[in-house]
Amino acid sequence: MPDTNPLDDPAADPFAIATAAAADIARLTGVERHDIALTLGSGWGRAAELVGETIATIAATDVTGFSAPALEGHVGTLRSVLTPRGKRVLVIGARTHFYEGHGPRRVVHSVRTAAASGARTMVLTNGAGGINPHWKPGQPVLISDHINLTGASPLEGATFIDLTDLYTMRLRDLARTIDPSLDEGVYCQFRGPQYETPAEVQMAKTIGGHIVGMSTALEAIAARQAGMEVLGFSLITNMAAGIQTTPLSHQEVIEAGREAEPVISDLLARVIGAL
Ligand code: HPA
Repeated sequence: MPDTNPLDDPAADPFAIATAAAADIARLTGVERHDIALTLGSGWGRAAELVGETIATIAATDVTGFSAPALEGHVGTLRSVLTPRGKRVLVIGARTHFYEGHGPRRVVHSVRTAAASGARTMVLTNGAGGINPHWKPGQPVLISDHINLTGASPLEGATFIDLTDLYTMRLRDLARTIDPSLDEGVYCQFRGPQYETPAEVQMAKTIGGHIVGMSTALEAIAARQAGMEVLGFSLITNMAAGIQTTPLSHQEVIEAGREAEPVISDLLARVIGAL
């Protein structure tokens, strides 16, 4: 399948493409505006059903600028969900990862589209490796901050954006009203797609990281640029390389996600219900 995407034209305005995408979503779902956007990472998929009533499910590839899913286990759909309290949630099951090599514009297009469709809150979830030895695979943790190790940015030109309190304390505190046992940590985004070496994990630990993964940081930056409030959750699918003594495998990550899914999806749905 030829992969042409309007975002790949350097002269194109990514915000105009996001506005066009938001118009596609409004037309295809029949829902004009959304209040909250939720990106589902590995293990978090079932939350979509628990958040509320699905009003419409559409293929991401029918929306301007979205790419076909690169990975089995990644759904490739967008859903419009209505919560019991009447909030409209855009559930993004179509994440483009930086490791796919299409550049930051495509990675953050779903975030910019959510902002263009009205969302003021961006909830980002992922499956990730844990550095904190007190954590166990299957445990969800809040993201308190991030370290962007990709060397890339979704910001173009001299766009100076403040990232203080990026994963806002307000939303982390709100999540802890639902589950007071939620711990938190600093997420390090590596480029991937290889998992980290044990030495890279030690570097991440030394510079203040607690979680390693391959998503989220670039999306959070774009969300802040768009004026959204960000809430981030990582499911610890495995202990990071060298913290666990056995080799990492994608299969292990998928299985940990599958096992934890009912519990963490329920948690996520309750947090979103409280937003
Ligand atoms: N590292 C990076 N990404 C991941 C990991 C990890 O250990 N586990 C799940 N996604």
